[in-house]
Amino acid sequence: CGIVGYIGQQDSKEILLRGLEKLEYRGYDSAGIAAINEKGVHIFKEKGRIAVLRESVDASVVATTGIGHTRWATHGVPSRVNAHPHQSTSGRFTLVHNGVIENYSILKREYLQNVTLLSDTDTEVVVQVIETFVNKGLEVEEAFRQTLSILKGSYAIGLIDEQNPDLIYVAKNKSPLLVGLGDGSFNVIASDAMAMLQVTDQFVELMDKEMVFVSRESVTIKNLKGEVIERAPYKAELDASDIEKGTYPHYMLKEIDEQPLVTRKIIQKYQDENGSLTIDSNIISAVNDADRIYIVAAGTSYHAGLLGKQFIESWTKIPVEVHVASEFSYNMPILSANPLFIFITQSGETADSRAVLVQVKELGYKALTITNVQGSTLSREADYTLLLHAGPEIAVASTKAYTAQLSVLAILAAVAGQGKGLNLEFDLVKELGIVANAMEVLCDQKEEMEAIAREYLSTTRNCFFIGRTVDYYVGLEGALKLKEISYIQAEGFAGGELKHGTIALIENGTPIIALATQEHVNLSIRGNVKEVVARGANPCIITMKGLEEEDDRFVLPPVHEALSPLVSVIPLQLISYYAALHRGCDVDKPRNLAKSVTVE
Ligand code: G6P
Repeated sequence: CGIVGYIGQQDSKEILLRGLEKLEYRGYDSAGIAAINEKGVHIFKEKGRIAVLRESVDASVVATTGIGHTRWATHGVPSRVNAHPHQSTSGRFTLVHNGVIENYSILKREYLQNVTLLSDTDTEVVVQVIETFVNKGLEVEEAFRQTLSILKGSYAIGLIDEQNPDLIYVAKNKSPLLVGLGDGSFNVIASDAMAMLQVTDQFVELMDKEMVFVSRESVTIKNLKGEVIERAPYKAELDASDIEKGTYPHYMLKEIDEQPLVTRKIIQKYQDENGSLTIDSNIISAVNDADRIYIVAAGTSYHAGLLGKQFIESWTKIPVEVHVASEFSYNMPILSANPLFIFITQSGETADSRAVLVQVKELGYKALTITNVQGSTLSREADYTLLLHAGPEIAVASTKAYTAQLSVLAILAAVAGQGKGLNLEFDLVKELGIVANAMEVLCDQKEEMEAIAREYLSTTRNCFFIGRTVDYYVGLEGALKLKEISYIQAEGFAGGELKHGTIALIENGTPIIALATQEHVNLSIRGNVKEVVARGANPCIITMKGLEEEDDRFVLPPVHEALSPLVSVIPLQLISYYAALHRGCDVDKPRNLAKSVTVE
């Protein structure tokens, strides 16, 4: 979910709506705004996208203070009733919330026996408890503070009080939230700076368990003891044009096309003045001092982690384990004596990953975050950060962040290896440059990718991706892309594993996308293709120049074998894109998903 708020001189509605549009990547199953003026609080909320909300907003209401929310459902189905903002029974307090209140049923039992709740949400409990405390005679600030002190879980909150249109009450714990500073006549809040770049580029970070009182002229941060905290603002380095899709029909296509550029940018950002690859020596020492590295991530970033393991183990000889964040936190493996944790996260906000970071920091271990978002929660809370420099990624399905993660992991592994006297047998800068060129060639072959999508995927119910070694890991990512945006049931398998069960699903015409980019397993993966073809499968073999055979469907331009995932994933991204288009799916905002999942 995402939240926004504005308090100033202008009508707040348009600023809030525009802000929410920028936050739609965080969830888009329902949305709402509350605007307050001398006549009271006006609430507009709807199930569906911000566009639906926009239609429902009454233009004649003018209000210079407001809060807004776009939702990714956790408690309660997506519906108008469950959409935020939520109000207290008397209508005096109105609140938007991102996060999960874990103890909401206890709070309900303890404080709200006499209150009828209207929604199924954990959020409504918060606003009702505040009102209950005020009814008992507490000042609003104190009622807010006491409510926050009893909440368990994660929250970013914006609250307005009908009796005081000159203040927004704000609080944060675990869920991200920023305060944006205006020119002295207005201030804003937002889950992500992107939402409010339209009015300011000056932002103040909030820490967990802080509350903030935002008026037109001032911003006062306090901890839950009520002590005032001073914090200087920073300038958001984003360029507003980075977050527009320009002439592209979809962000996903724009972001796929940006991959050559991003790869070149990463090479440049990680080069010293002599052109050698370089990484902060503290990070390299942390890597080389570790007896084992634990990579923790979710979704696409987890798939990048699997390839990160290949780079790090091959080039530094340090053993690496890769874990899904949501599993790791509840089922921690036995750790080595001197571990280093690497968190891979595009957004830097994924709650599952952050939960592990908090755990391992408590255990006293060092952590490095590899992220696209400077200043994000996982970046701030880790000991070290490496940035992806991919520019904002807006489409829910991750593309350029994935290849950026691979490039940065490769550079990290190479520089760390060098630090131990293990020099690569090839020039990584040169080979990454070749990769960037190959990416460009692939991005120019969209017609071919569209044809493959049409031929194999326009009506199928399922699709399997197979490969061996690194091709298997890329296949996992290809399958994730396809299922995320086209809803085709897709799975990635190690080529040899299909026969141990899943081959039972092969019917006449079942598409199998096979990657064959690695010389040492080329014959064995082709053997696996033969096994499925014998059972009626329709194979689409994607191979690398030099390994091609007669029946191959697509040949990738040649790159260094170790870096092949950076290029072999691109056809898979494009094939998924066109499959989703052909099937009439919403490419950038697939159903049920959110780009940044800030709940565990
Ligand atoms: C969500 C997104 C995925 C993403 C995952 C991890 O589930 O839909 O595309 O890979 O989160 O996100 P992160 O920002 O931590 O890389």
